[in-house]
Amino acid sequence: MRRRFDPSGRLRGTLAAPADKSLSHRAALLAAMTSDPVRVTGYLDAADTNSTLAAVQALGALVDRRPGALTIRGTGLRAAAPAAGVIDVGNAGTLMRLLPGWLAGQPGGSWTLDGDDSIRRRPVDRIAEPLRRMGAHLVAREGRFAPFTVTGSPLRSIEYALPVASAQIKSCVLLAGLLASGETSVIEPEPSRDHTERLLLRCGVTVTRDGPRIAVCPQDELELGDLHLPGDPSSAAFHVAAAVLVRGSRIVIEDMAANWTRVGFLRIVERMGGVLLGELEPHGAPLSPEEPVTELDVAHGGLVGTTVDAAEVPLAIDELPLVALLGCFAEGETVVRGAQELRVKETDRIATVVDGLRGLGAEIEATEDGFAVQGTGGLRGGTIASHGDHRLAMLGAVAGLASREGVVVDGMEAAAVSYPGFEADLAALGGR
Ligand code: S3P
Repeated sequence: MRRRFDPSGRLRGTLAAPADKSLSHRAALLAAMTSDPVRVTGYLDAADTNSTLAAVQALGALVDRRPGALTIRGTGLRAAAPAAGVIDVGNAGTLMRLLPGWLAGQPGGSWTLDGDDSIRRRPVDRIAEPLRRMGAHLVAREGRFAPFTVTGSPLRSIEYALPVASAQIKSCVLLAGLLASGETSVIEPEPSRDHTERLLLRCGVTVTRDGPRIAVCPQDELELGDLHLPGDPSSAAFHVAAAVLVRGSRIVIEDMAANWTRVGFLRIVERMGGVLLGELEPHGAPLSPEEPVTELDVAHGGLVGTTVDAAEVPLAIDELPLVALLGCFAEGETVVRGAQELRVKETDRIATVVDGLRGLGAEIEATEDGFAVQGTGGLRGGTIASHGDHRLAMLGAVAGLASREGVVVDGMEAAAVSYPGFEADLAALGGR
């Protein structure tokens, strides 16, 4: 599906932040691991998170979807059933990396996980390694790709130093730790999103964080209670970028998660000169079962280039393509480094972002672990391919609004992976 996004007049209005993908995946998985029904409001109705609902149903959970809310009746922590089968994770990397943590600790069960062409190119050795150390059996195609089979076993506890700052690997090990013989811990090279830790606290699990070390104790059962999920800062980021780039814009985004580990992009935008008002969680807040929420006021601002280093990367990982776009409009150079993880996202986002933006007239170079953009104060426009990557499709749309000649996005349908209402929301702000 090709869509054209013309240069836009100022954006105005108020938007409820779109539902959060990371929180929705975790809410469905943890609800499936409890035995009392869990009512969830704010669950994301999109391709990725529908894959997670289908997966938990395939494992025996019951899902009752009503407008505005869904109720999940889980199987209990140690009762994933039926004890064999194929699970289709679709395009969802988070589902593919988190679910095996639970399955690995279900002796007597064996499940094969597979997904679309993009998922088959994304590595799972990163979770296989710690799970095997815990005693799990995981056999993957070529040792590191889907389809792969997890056979449940009794698990022993480990302390695992993560080789990369990844919330998915961290979460996988912590979930497996619930079923292990003793305290299981991970050590993060840099902080990454902490939704799993917060939700586990809500489930009554003993979770401790001591500097970079996070530990969980094994559990007999989980009790979650009802959940309201706040909106997604990564999806809202597209509107934030549009409002910052399009002259005269001023928008308000309501009910957005303000978790410090999720709003690194907003700190980068502020540093570059975008005007933001809203209460974000401060650095160093104690680990809490709550997700802080904010209302964010965003206005256009003249931008200057910036440098994003490795420590900031996990806190803005999915928004780094937008940093490249902002860099095109900034004065001076914008550099992102220490972001080699971008190469194993839905596409190789260093290659696809650099090629895509260059095709629109940007002066941008790829590096091994990021990119460097020379700001020219604007962007010509042209055609960009999404390559089936939702964030690339939405990047193209925002680029179009801020460009001189407009942008055609080839493969706009990919946005439905995380944000089916994206075009309608953008239009409501005046951006079409
Ligand atoms: C996610 C973690 C990040 C992010 C992904 C969602 C999560 O991946 O890119 O979109 O929900 O845990 P990594 O953990 O691989 O960095």
